[in-house]
Amino acid sequence: MSREQEKRVAGRHAAGLVEDGMRIGLGTGSTVRHLVEALGERGADIICLATSAATEQLAAAQGLRLMTAEEAGRLDLTIDGADEIDPRLNLTKGGGGAHVREKIVAHMSDRFVVIADVGKLVPALGPFGTPLEALAWARGPVTRSLRALGATEVRWRKTPSDNGNPVADAHFGTISDPVALAAAIDAVPGMVGHGLFPGAWVERAVIGAGTEVREVRAADAGTP
Ligand code: 5RP
Repeated sequence: MSREQEKRVAGRHAAGLVEDGMRIGLGTGSTVRHLVEALGERGADIICLATSAATEQLAAAQGLRLMTAEEAGRLDLTIDGADEIDPRLNLTKGGGGAHVREKIVAHMSDRFVVIADVGKLVPALGPFGTPLEALAWARGPVTRSLRALGATEVRWRKTPSDNGNPVADAHFGTISDPVALAAAIDAVPGMVGHGLFPGAWVERAVIGAGTEVREVRAADAGTP
């Protein structure tokens, strides 16, 4: 079973969590694509807040109703992908550079569910790198601050985020305390946001593993 098929299994399974009448946050990425297609095929009567221009276009093409962040208020449920998921459901996100909007939308939601192929499960966050977004003017000082926090490498991407800001990947090696590192990065002046998400936000991870779906809940993962 390929990774793509596992993403499809996870995305389609998670579509079953969405009920008509719900206000739904839609994440970004290739796993979310399967979710959105499943919701479109069944003609789900929902209203959605998308976390990127790409997801917005996809959802509109699938006939889903969309609202802006301004209009949204509280959301019932957000479903999004991840680049790394540790045993406590802490996440690395932002492979697609959408992590700032993704974090805002997750925070607006009563429930946050992550969908991924089994290859995203890791013993500890870190190997993927930590995506972040910063003010263009502050790129130099932000790079130096990240190095002072222990980043061995800070690589700026060619493509800015949908917010128009530069995106980078910082490498901290194995991250032993993602919550503490998240707080330290948040405190860097010029930082717009980063891709470390706390496990305490995640209701469950829906994982495609071969042809099967595994659900990992925060309680199972020992999240405080
Ligand atoms: C985008 C993200 C994605 O959710 C993450 O990169 C996973 O993507 P995919 O489902 O394509 O593997 O955080 O910013």
